[in-house]
Amino acid sequence: MTAIEQIAAIEAEARASLAAAGDDGALAAWQSGVFGKGGSLTGILRGLGALAPEERKAVGAAANLAKQALEAALAERRDALKAASLAASAADALDVTLPGRPLRRGRLHPVTQVRREILDIFARLGFATVEGPEVELDEYNFGRLRIPEHHPARDMWDTFWLDEEVDGRQPLLLRTHTSPMQIRHIDTHEPPIRVAVPGRCYRYEATDATHEWMLEQVELLAIDEGLSLANLKGTLQEFARQMFGPERRVLMRNSYFPFVEPGVELAVDCFACPGDNPACPVCRGAGWLEIMGAGMVHPEIIAAAGYDPERYTGFAAGMGVERITMLKFGITDIRDLHANDLRFLSQF
Ligand code: PHE
Repeated sequence: MTAIEQIAAIEAEARASLAAAGDDGALAAWQSGVFGKGGSLTGILRGLGALAPEERKAVGAAANLAKQALEAALAERRDALKAASLAASAADALDVTLPGRPLRRGRLHPVTQVRREILDIFARLGFATVEGPEVELDEYNFGRLRIPEHHPARDMWDTFWLDEEVDGRQPLLLRTHTSPMQIRHIDTHEPPIRVAVPGRCYRYEATDATHEWMLEQVELLAIDEGLSLANLKGTLQEFARQMFGPERRVLMRNSYFPFVEPGVELAVDCFACPGDNPACPVCRGAGWLEIMGAGMVHPEIIAAAGYDPERYTGFAAGMGVERITMLKFGITDIRDLHANDLRFLSQF
């Protein structure tokens, strides 16, 4: 093999092994294998001095050409490997500029929001929150609230009775209001008493836009020495202000509930109109919104619990949480509240 043929063979062999070098380490090894101290091309260049002058010229030129060509091939291979590795890392990269997928946040049911707001307001006014049973005794729901059997006032509360029978009578029912907790609480606590009682109540009645067979109430009970109707009015006026706005005024109208004397119905002035707009969706022109029944705890109830009604007096009130929710949010059909339609509920 002539020296020229040998150079061509070295170059061909070097190009083949360069094509097989796949990373920086392989490239460095290839580089020293060709151009390094003991490299294949280095050997030829070293041997040039031993050649005859005319041969040395031709072989030297061929060797230099091969050296330049291999150097160019190395640079090209290095660029190609770099480009390939960039492309590979781009393929499995996270694109941080993509818009995120929205996380849908849950929220409290509007009735829950309003119940909590009611209890917060009364807590600030000194009323502790207590709860009672939904399955109640006739005795507490009616009897000890001065609504004996066959009393016409029972018609105010159509009742779901439980099948349970004792001595031919059904003593258990789903409470129709939270007022039985007045009795349970004074039976077990000494004055001064200040409690707010939230809870579900049930009424066996046809449903329409303002009536449901299940409703939530918050009952208020205060018993102490020297409480009067003025304390009731002041407490509820402050409640109305915090609930419906600082300008609110409250109106007490005569009403009747067997367990209070006197009994009143409490209304706040309309917060949606000046009170004279017949098209107002909130008050329909009435100007006043009834929000609860209330009154002074009947002296017989205080006496029955073992306290002297000459010394202790008290007030009670019961409000519908759905009703207040509807007024506050401008909801016109109570049935929407428990239909569980998220398109409706997510608006509040
Ligand atoms: N419990 C009565 C009702 O549900 C409301 C009420 C409570 C009235 C307390 C007076 C005092 O209609």
